[in-house]
Amino acid sequence: MNMGKVGPKAQEVIRRDEAALSPSYTRGYPLVVDHGLGSELWDVDGNRYIDFAAGIAVTATGHCHPKVVKAIQDQAAKLIHIGGTDFYYDMQVRVAEKLDLIAPFKDDARVFLTNSGAESVEAAVKLARWTTERLRFIAFHGGFHGRTMGALAFTASKAVQRAGFFPYMPGVTHVPYPNPKACMHGRREADCLDNCYCVQYIEDVIFSRMFPGEEVAAILVEPIQGEGGYIVPPPDFLKDLRALCDKYGILLIIDEVQSGMGRTGKWFAIEHWGVEPDMVCVAKGIASGMPLGALIARKQLMDWPPGAHANTFGGNPVACAAALATMELLEEGDAVTGGKPYMQNAAEIGEFMTDALVELQSRHPSISDVRGMGLMLGAEFRVDGKLAPALRNRVAEIGFEKGLVLLPAGPATMRFAPPLNISQKLAEEGLHLFEAALTEAENER
Ligand SMILES: Cc1ncc(COP(=O)(O)O)c(C=O)c1O
Repeated sequence: MNMGKVGPKAQEVIRRDEAALSPSYTRGYPLVVDHGLGSELWDVDGNRYIDFAAGIAVTATGHCHPKVVKAIQDQAAKLIHIGGTDFYYDMQVRVAEKLDLIAPFKDDARVFLTNSGAESVEAAVKLARWTTERLRFIAFHGGFHGRTMGALAFTASKAVQRAGFFPYMPGVTHVPYPNPKACMHGRREADCLDNCYCVQYIEDVIFSRMFPGEEVAAILVEPIQGEGGYIVPPPDFLKDLRALCDKYGILLIIDEVQSGMGRTGKWFAIEHWGVEPDMVCVAKGIASGMPLGALIARKQLMDWPPGAHANTFGGNPVACAAALATMELLEEGDAVTGGKPYMQNAAEIGEFMTDALVELQSRHPSISDVRGMGLMLGAEFRVDGKLAPALRNRVAEIGFEKGLVLLPAGPATMRFAPPLNISQKLAEEGLHLFEAALTEAENER
């Protein structure tokens, strides 16, 4: 790691971190954060940064939003923990009731509260097995669903995430995810967009040559692939997947851990396609950084008996208080966005940033694609037609040195996932820093 531009206090923390913490974390550059406010961060040496990463698409309302902080403080003074598995309390009921109201299906919902995205996926997989009494699952190449042993069986984003951990949970078959820019079936972009083959492939190849569709409990899919590289599927993909599920009695589980909670301008990304899933996994943005996740399922599916699934910390009262404040801001907004719902701000600033990135692309041919929805945006890098991870990583490094926090996603994509209440002014300032970093990285080559 290049420590050349790292201040003395940051160096000290990194030295101690290296001695005390697991080396499995993937730090791309040496940012040592001290505090944050809105879409800005400050490191321990006093340097300021614009945050285009939001703690991996988590701090939906920005860092330390006063309303979220107050909700946390008030709840912490009242009750920090009691254990929703064994006792009742109003906070987790309120969160579940709200998630029922916003669930992207018409049926009533029931909710299981978790501490993370992986745990929401684990709950979905267990419930799908329980309720269908089927053993098989379909997942997608490039998908990321978490790192616990169950979720890891579905994750197929980077080999390093799976290496050394075999055997995984049995019964998961991976199939190609439609990437119009790099179709695994070798189709051209226009063909993929108009006539995507990925769902037909499941029927033609998997169900006819490997096992019948009637053995499959569920298909787990991200409506927009996140860690896989911010990939938006072609228009008919999710609709076709729904039809396939209906034909064989398969449950459709949507992983909205990264794309959900307003990030794409709607509560859930799948709403852009008008498709109703059977279960939805959420986490990340739901509580502005407090650890909370949820499995939202159609009510009739969540019929397992007491003891079948539970946890100690899920639905912690303080995390629930943060979630309620977060969801209110996403829906109603406040002075930070001039009274605009944060979800609407995400849609509008997302459009502004997309236009700016497309314009920037015309000056920088190393950006081969700009894609995404709302504030879930990605720019892919290619040099001589080939994916360019080294250039992408260098842009992130130089961006950091210039005061911009960026996170890569997938083989060669940079993600743009700021807080949903970011102002146009800060978005613009961040994009200028991005272009300056890109220019410098290109000139080094
Ligand atoms: C789509 C998706 N699902 C699941 C997860 C796992 O979430 P967590 O890291 O909270 O376990 C992630 C994390 O990046 C994700 O992006």
